[in-house]
Amino acid sequence: MNKTILITGAAKRIGKEIALTFSDMGWNVIIHYNSSKQDAEKLQNDINKVNPNSAKIIQANLDIDEDIERLIINSRSMFSTLDVLVNNASAFYPTPIKDASLNDWDSLVGSNLKGPLFLIKGLHEIIANNNGSIINITDTNLTKGVANFSVYAAAKGGLQSITKSLARELAPNINVNAIAPGAMLEPPDISWSDEKKASVIENIPLKRMGSEKDIANAVKFLVKAKYITGQTIKVDGGRSLI
Ligand SMILES: NC(=O)c1ccc[n+]([C@@H]2O[C@H](COP(=O)([O-])OP(=O)(O)OC[C@H]3O[C@@H](n4cnc5c(N)ncnc54)[C@H](OP(=O)(O)O)[C@@H]3O)[C@@H](O)[C@H]2O)c1
Repeated sequence: MNKTILITGAAKRIGKEIALTFSDMGWNVIIHYNSSKQDAEKLQNDINKVNPNSAKIIQANLDIDEDIERLIINSRSMFSTLDVLVNNASAFYPTPIKDASLNDWDSLVGSNLKGPLFLIKGLHEIIANNNGSIINITDTNLTKGVANFSVYAAAKGGLQSITKSLARELAPNINVNAIAPGAMLEPPDISWSDEKKASVIENIPLKRMGSEKDIANAVKFLVKAKYITGQTIKVDGGRSLI
């Protein structure tokens, strides 16, 4: 029986690459999306052309409690098994403290912390049946603090923190780990100038931005590394060392 992975926010960018990587390994993939319906459908079709009936899509806004519940119920039954959950979906935007609102809190915590936590609550039993893995995607910049991003940092910091708590609580049947990307891609809908890119790369010892594949490879590694739990792997080209 093929294994199954659920990746949130998988219609584009890093989540999409994780989906393609696991599809190449012969896995079934559940592609969660919120607003990127066309991208999700295209990815599903592309994967199903190669591995028939192995990709399914599901829409849910992780800010909305009923959507999280629907995502849980459908994910349990889409394939006969669920082995891996990757909490990848993320809202990301600045909230200078003078302007931060309760709406910002709900939006940034919804996709980056509340959604992941309740998905784990709803899916851990089925994942435990298969001695599976949960991987939370956080952010390497948390360690140093980022001005104007306190709400996002609170949400991702919370996600990193529950990774350790749940690694203990869900052991020995589930491995729970985090991956903290560095500067991988420009933020969605923003194109950095060459100058900006050069200044980012200047602070990365490996002297390049990361790629979607760098994160997908780390997910693949953690899924196979069954003696690692409660850890955060920084995939940041050494940026956090500086
Ligand atoms: N890119 C980087 O350089 C970088 C750096 C540090 C950390 N990370 C982390 O790595 C992960 C992937 O990064 P990325 O740049 O590929 O992510 P992204 O493109 O910014 O976001 C991934 C997906 O999250 C989904 N999403 C946002 N709000 C949502 C909500 N309320 N409910 C459900 N889904 C929602 C969106 O889905 P739809 O498009 O379907 O709406 C989006 O496509 C994220 O967790 C990010 O925080 C990335």
